[in-house]
Amino acid sequence: MKTICTSIIGFGAIGQGVAEVLLSKKEYLESLDLDVRVIAVVDSRGATIDPAGVDLAACLTRKRETGTVALEKISGLEVIKTLDHELVIETTPTNIETGGAGLLNMMAAFETGKDVVTSNKGPLTLKYRELQKAAKASGSKFRFEATVGGSMPVINLVNEVLAGNEVRSIKGILNGTCNYILSRMLEEKASYTDILAESMELGIAETDPSYDVEGIDTACKLVILANALFGLEATYKDVEVTGITKITPDALEMARENGYVIKLIGEVSRERLLVAPRLVPINHPLAVGGTLNVASVETELAGEITVTGKGAGPIETASAVLSDLISIYREC
Ligand SMILES: NC(=O)c1ccc[n+]([C@@H]2O[C@H](COP(=O)([O-])OP(=O)(O)OC[C@H]3O[C@@H](n4cnc5c(N)ncnc54)[C@H](OP(=O)(O)O)[C@@H]3O)[C@@H](O)[C@H]2O)c1
Repeated sequence: MKTICTSIIGFGAIGQGVAEVLLSKKEYLESLDLDVRVIAVVDSRGATIDPAGVDLAACLTRKRETGTVALEKISGLEVIKTLDHELVIETTPTNIETGGAGLLNMMAAFETGKDVVTSNKGPLTLKYRELQKAAKASGSKFRFEATVGGSMPVINLVNEVLAGNEVRSIKGILNGTCNYILSRMLEEKASYTDILAESMELGIAETDPSYDVEGIDTACKLVILANALFGLEATYKDVEVTGITKITPDALEMARENGYVIKLIGEVSRERLLVAPRLVPINHPLAVGGTLNVASVETELAGEITVTGKGAGPIETASAVLSDLISIYREC
């Protein structure tokens, strides 16, 4: 049995989802000869640490009941730098201006020879090359399927399942909040503002939804795909971005009368990175509704491959984190 000592840095929706999945998949992991031992769980106020393995169920309860897992006042960065472990699961908030704590955490993980699995887009959007270089220099593994499309496989699909294919373009819906708003506007013939308010009440949209509805979140995901799958050196500035804030119920209705839906589509190819509302034929594979994500990969040998799935949610996103973890250690 191989023991993998890991930290979970960030214990919000996704960090807790990862803890739940590690608990529920313990036996399955053991069947793969993997004993995943979480030696530290960290939130913004501190950490629970136990080199023999923290009690994840107790961490989940404590977080729920007290709002924190902090038993010790120590930061994620200190945990990464000072505690002996091989994997950092990085699930702190996305910051696309500076990379936030996530960037420092990932760099520190690589500098100390640790592997990283993350759901945090910010650092990859800003410093993809630098992160890959740091990982390579220390021989660390770096996986980030959860940063694009939550549970929906895209990065590993292209890099592994479709290995050998030249990828010509990827087009898709990579933001569930925008897709929900557009789908509901059409169903209810309601205005953008009304449906946005409903989405906030349901917790589908953030209190500050601009990151989603202005297309910024989709643009960040395109940057990750461009760098990870097309070998480009793209940054956010390379993406032409238009959001959904100006779409009217009339426009959606007119599109429907002509057999189309309007969707916020992100498209990446070697030539162009584009986020914009576009007309999609009603029966086209990209015309998925609700909060679903979808990605259509145009390949050289396999033709077009389309995947769809839940782009967000704690357990769904943790599924991508789990599969990255398994891929790293099953390889060894
Ligand atoms: N939610 C989704 O469905 C989803 C899907 C795909 C990707 N993602 C990405 O996954 C990441 C986590 O998302 P989330 O929804 O779990 O966010 P969240 O609920 O806001 O949780 C973030 C966690 O990070 C902690 N944190 C903040 N600053 C920290 C620091 N400096 N050191 C250590 N911990 C720190 C927070 O602590 P406190 O608890 O003390 O505030 C919280 O536990 C984000 O980058 C997000 O973009 C999310």
